[in-house]
Amino acid sequence: MYSLVSASLLGCDLADLSSEIKSIEQAGADWLHCDVMDGAFVNNISFGTPVLKCIKKAASVPLDTHLMINDPIRYIDDYAQLGSDNITFHVEAAGDPQSVIDRIHSHGISAGISLKPATPVSAVKPFLESVDLVLVMTVDPGFGGQKFMPDTLEKISEIRYLLDSMGKKDVRIEVDGGINGTTVKYCREAGADVMVSGSYIFGAQDRTAAVKSLKV
Ligand code: DX5
Ligand code: ZN
Repeated sequence: MYSLVSASLLGCDLADLSSEIKSIEQAGADWLHCDVMDGAFVNNISFGTPVLKCIKKAASVPLDTHLMINDPIRYIDDYAQLGSDNITFHVEAAGDPQSVIDRIHSHGISAGISLKPATPVSAVKPFLESVDLVLVMTVDPGFGGQKFMPDTLEKISEIRYLLDSMGKKDVRIEVDGGINGTTVKYCREAGADVMVSGSYIFGAQDRTAAVKSLKV
């Protein structure tokens, strides 16, 4: 499958959100990645529904919502109703992951499941049959601008192998954290096809070239 770039807005100038959105869309970003953090599941607080509503108004490309929050089922309806096109939640944060997936699907949108670097593939395996996307964290979630963890590549390959052997070739694998023009190649080789990037693309002099360098 051709690869997509999901631009993490955590890496942009949040005081200038609508022009940052236009700029990164013009640079070729396929999706807008919105990192929602609750200060409990991760050690940081980012933004929530009021900000995502504004992002949705300004956006022309799909909204890729990444919920780094405990007990995500509480907020699925809110993030779906404001116009998320995909909602990804963390397997470590959900008591009953299947019911979260079903709740996301009840809104007719794509459901993603994510795992932290320390979480084994076996934690998401039972849900591969019903998700549309698997987000493999390539850094510990919580902050932008961290260094890519190469140990996570093996998990990408393993998940790609499992999905392919289940006949789920259309389920995408997204990678998030420390993605740049170099690390993206390892991820692509391992089987990822949605590349999240914040600091690398928003910090680039030439954003178009930076986004293009991720479409390997
Ligand atoms: C980290 C977030 C990421 C982050 C990526 O917890 O999930 O989406 O913004 O930022 P970079 O690309 O700078 O590593
Ligand atoms: Zn993210």
